[in-house]
Amino acid sequence: MIVKQNFELTNNNTFGLVVNAKEAAIITSCDDLTELYNNGKLNKTNILTLSGGSNILFTKDYNGLVVLNNIYGKRIIEEDDKHVFLEVSSGEIWSDIVDFAVSNNWGGLENMIDIPGKVGAAPVQNIGAYGTELKDVMASLEAFEISTGQFVVIKNKDCNFGYRSSIFKTTHKNKYIITKIILRLHKKPILNLSYKPLADAFAGKDRATITIGDVSNKISEIRASKIPDPVCFHNAGSFFKNPIVSMSKFNELTNQFPKIPFFKISNNEVKIPAGWLIEQCGWKGKRIGDVGTSEKQALILINYGTATGKQILDFATNIQHSVANKFGINLDLEVNVL
Ligand code: EPU
Repeated sequence: MIVKQNFELTNNNTFGLVVNAKEAAIITSCDDLTELYNNGKLNKTNILTLSGGSNILFTKDYNGLVVLNNIYGKRIIEEDDKHVFLEVSSGEIWSDIVDFAVSNNWGGLENMIDIPGKVGAAPVQNIGAYGTELKDVMASLEAFEISTGQFVVIKNKDCNFGYRSSIFKTTHKNKYIITKIILRLHKKPILNLSYKPLADAFAGKDRATITIGDVSNKISEIRASKIPDPVCFHNAGSFFKNPIVSMSKFNELTNQFPKIPFFKISNNEVKIPAGWLIEQCGWKGKRIGDVGTSEKQALILINYGTATGKQILDFATNIQHSVANKFGINLDLEVNVL
């Protein structure tokens, strides 16, 4: 494996930002990680694993080693009457794995069709869409521990998964490189049509006749109508997380904004769509220079040409100020800013 110097990352981040990494290693096997470790290449603080670059905003060149993950492979490692345990290497494209599961009629992944990025990034932010999150289907994962050079198995419960969060984003940030995940898929799929647009789309249909292929096709359609394809419009999906507010804050807001959409997540917490808050502040479809929000979904920021990461971040900061001023809510970033 060759470690390249001054490597251009433009094709490795879906914002299409023109930035360079001081060094880059393209890994195609777990042995490559061991080789990097033995050569002392992982012995420094600045290591970034890029698994598709679909959730990252570079505001400057990366002054360290970027590990580009091209470890491919998938295989069934266990099977019983009800489940298939599928081991997937972290360099695989996430959506290809969803297609593979759907084509075999193994349930669990279908609601997460078309999420951009590679498998290795999925646990980091506990990807999710249309009522399903990775945490609902992942049994365990294997990761390379950078400090020891050992491969370790981490169980689902030890990942501390939350809404777009895990130990890999918080307490154990930059400590591991994820090499494999084990998915627990259902041989008799259980449909999850809880998400309203999905329930509406299948309203009146006999549930017994709906296949997971129907669900993934419908979700692909809904996503395509809202989320700009990063190949045509450089973006990183949702730029902000949907804020979670206390019930008392929510009651205050409904008095002032009776139409505020919401999703109750517990007796004392409510999730509010950031896209709605941003739209109410007049930012939907707004463009300044080469930075803008999508006309279809205000939560998505787009690089329309040659914007820099810094310009995108400034634009996002202005959105955060508007939302804070109007609603008293702080929007947290979903993307990782570097
Ligand atoms: N809305 C607006 N204006 C907008 C956008 C949204 O008013 O410009 C309101 C509408 O009321 C709409 C509601 O927000 O009904 C929810 O919008 P949407 O269904 O598009 O979902 P979202 O909450 O904006 C989240 C995830 C998406 C995921 C969808 C579907 C986050 C931060 N985003 O978006 O994930 O695909 O739900 O499950 O949780 C991603 O993480 O990158 C991502 C795209």
